[in-house]
Amino acid sequence: MPTTPPPTAPLLAPVASATALIVGAGRGIGLGFVKQLLEEPRITRLYATYRDANSAAELLALSQWQGDRLILFKLDITEEAQIASLADEIKARSGSLHLAIYAVGILHGPDFQPEKSLRSLQSEPLLHYFQVNAIGAALLAKHLMPLLRHGEPSIFAAISAKVGSIGDNHLGGWYGYRASKAALNMLMKTTALEYERRCPQTLVVVLHPGTTATQLSEPFQRNVPPEKLFSVERTVAQLWDVLARLQPGDSGKFFSWDGSELPGRFLSRFMGRPSNFNICQS
Ligand SMILES: NC(=O)c1ccc[n+]([C@@H]2O[C@H](COP(=O)([O-])OP(=O)(O)OC[C@H]3O[C@@H](n4cnc5c(N)ncnc54)[C@H](OP(=O)(O)O)[C@@H]3O)[C@@H](O)[C@H]2O)c1
Repeated sequence: MPTTPPPTAPLLAPVASATALIVGAGRGIGLGFVKQLLEEPRITRLYATYRDANSAAELLALSQWQGDRLILFKLDITEEAQIASLADEIKARSGSLHLAIYAVGILHGPDFQPEKSLRSLQSEPLLHYFQVNAIGAALLAKHLMPLLRHGEPSIFAAISAKVGSIGDNHLGGWYGYRASKAALNMLMKTTALEYERRCPQTLVVVLHPGTTATQLSEPFQRNVPPEKLFSVERTVAQLWDVLARLQPGDSGKFFSWDGSELPGRFLSRFMGRPSNFNICQS
């Protein structure tokens, strides 16, 4: 864990006035990022999306006294037309983006739970995992590319999870969540390669936040030792520190909350040589 967190992402340091977007900001880690970025004077315009107003009361209240600095959009990530409209709106208002964070994710819901065995697999919840946890991020990267492509540096970060690691899967279970996070990692790696060609000043990275006390982890916190269950504030500070330390060659990598890079053990084992597919590990 790095000791002295820099105040603002140095990669963005040359940017006098940065524009950021948090997708999935209604609660949890996404909401934490909104609060963090509002503390950063260099972020002069912050866009944030929420899906359900009922669970986004704190975000909606925040926007009341932030004026034009914090602009909210209602967005369901499973609707591509809404993602396209979001990009159009940001283009019309700001013209460009310097930072986009995908903080959307599902693990359980009112009518589905992570699967413990093959017996409980059903295609509909599986598809929903993929749509929300993986496909949404790729569609966002598709629609944001013109906004991230400009003369200044920019970052596209998606929050994944270590349980998406194929090589690290020793326990089994959670088929849909694990598989959708593995898909997210591959979609982001592939996006990073295309961005390198078409949008070379943008770094595309994937982040593992560590177990964090949010609604997503709530039913599974019982067996987590207290020192391994992070508050949202701690997680966001740690991930912000990771983003702050990104270097120009980091695109396509998967970073854990402590700044360590999660390596691609699965591929290197099968290919018999070190792999640079860094984000396949989790
Ligand atoms: N918490 C952890 O321990 C942990 C560990 C590893 C990885 N992660 C990852 O971290 C990310 C953030 O999770 P969190 O812990 O902050 O969870 P959370 O508190 O449950 O927040 C999830 C967010 O995703 C949004 N969302 C869900 N479905 C959506 C949809 N169809 N369209 C748009 N937004 C949607 C939710 O909006 P609504 O309020 O409208 O539902 C909510 O804002 C996720 O990718 C998660 O997998 C979390």
